Amino acid sequence: MFPCDFAWGAATAAYQIEGGWDSDNKGPSIWDTFCHQDKGSRVSGGQNADVTCSSYVMWEKDLQCIQQLGLTHYRMSLSWARLLPDGTTKNVNQKGVQYYNKVINDLLLRKVSPMVTLYHFDLPQALQEQGGWKSSNMATLFDSYARFCFQTFGDRVKLWITINEPYVCAKLGHEDGVHAPGVKEPGTAAYLVGHNMLRGHAMAWHSYDTLYRSKQKGAVSIAINSDWAEPLDPSDAEDVTATKRYLAFTLGWFAWPVFVTGDYPEIMRAAVDAQSKKLGYGGDRCRLPTFSQDEPAILGSADFFALNYYTSRKVKPRRGSGQMLCVKSDQDAEDVMDPSWPVCGVSWLAVVPHGLRKLLCYVKETFNNPEVYITENGFAQTGPLQMEDSERCRFYQDTINEVANAIGKDGVNVRGYFAWSLMDNFEWADGFSTRFGLFHVDFSDPERTRSIYRSGREYAQIISKYRSQTSS
Ligand code: BGC
Repeated sequence: MFPCDFAWGAATAAYQIEGGWDSDNKGPSIWDTFCHQDKGSRVSGGQNADVTCSSYVMWEKDLQCIQQLGLTHYRMSLSWARLLPDGTTKNVNQKGVQYYNKVINDLLLRKVSPMVTLYHFDLPQALQEQGGWKSSNMATLFDSYARFCFQTFGDRVKLWITINEPYVCAKLGHEDGVHAPGVKEPGTAAYLVGHNMLRGHAMAWHSYDTLYRSKQKGAVSIAINSDWAEPLDPSDAEDVTATKRYLAFTLGWFAWPVFVTGDYPEIMRAAVDAQSKKLGYGGDRCRLPTFSQDEPAILGSADFFALNYYTSRKVKPRRGSGQMLCVKSDQDAEDVMDPSWPVCGVSWLAVVPHGLRKLLCYVKETFNNPEVYITENGFAQTGPLQMEDSERCRFYQDTINEVANAIGKDGVNVRGYFAWSLMDNFEWADGFSTRFGLFHVDFSDPERTRSIYRSGREYAQIISKYRSQTSS
């Protein structure tokens, strides 16, 4: 059974839906640059999100979708470069402020609570030019931006996410180079970026705590993505240890410092240091940085646990690959899919609803039974458009059952569930070919018409069923 104030939501992110990439003084972000440069080579089909769902001009259409689903909450992100075109508070773009004021006010008028993410992959390009997240300064710049947002919108926004998926920004953006800013510096940049993101997050949390909390009475966290992982052979001690390493390098990388010790998991640091030694990396130079005692504490810098879950893996040790300096070889774990798991749309997305329940139990036990919001979870469609998306319907039913069991049977304190995504949108390097929406968006239509998928109708029914049970 879901608590009566359970958050039933759907999520989006600014770059993926807004368009208006250079409208009304918006500054470029690293994703604008990433898509515009080397045209055709970085994103599937050479696509970009210059227009995408056009939510910057068609927000009312999104609002209708939100109402049609009967959501109690809507998770959205702010475009830093729309609010602060050069990334700094010296130059505020009032048009951007007006836009988000309207969105937030429209939501509240319809009794939908916004959950607002400050950073969802789209750093102002001007800050990238100063070194981006690899630069230590980014943490204080992020803190200034966060304070500006708390000050401007915090009278109405009560749920904040500082940074979405630091793992993805760090690894895909700075090690693999398949996300903006397209940096490929394996084995070093990802750790630095992750570190600066954690520092920036903690500074922002402390700013909220000391300057805004007593008045605004909201809550702040960081959205951490992780697969659920199990040993390929649970009776094999090496598989068990490899699974611990796998989780330490995904969930643990960001959750351990915030919820457990204020530092990275020991197993992670030991693995990185051992690999540095083995490969003769730079004497005393440490690839995984250390947090300074003189900065705001990382430990305790979250008011709830924000979890993005998509898929699960079976894990065994990585064989014969430890000769490269990279996160994967530090992690030293090979992940495979169970052949019984169906794969939807994209190759990485094995559909494993029960993995979410297990991950929730793991979060409860490992991170001291926090309040949890599932801030993203979804099912991709590719190929021919299927409006009658029965597999996705099944996926949502099964997943929400698993969440109900995690609450009712396992006692996990789950406070909300956000489907990814409200509507089809720009799926990063996959462009528009991968569709995660509860509403289909016709990208060939200048009106960007939104049409509800069957899964959208069913999600609305699920919400309405549980809400009527808890209110009666
Ligand atoms: C991101 C979303 C993305 C989704 C599906 C998450 O990594 O936060 O922006 O669209 O997964 O890939």
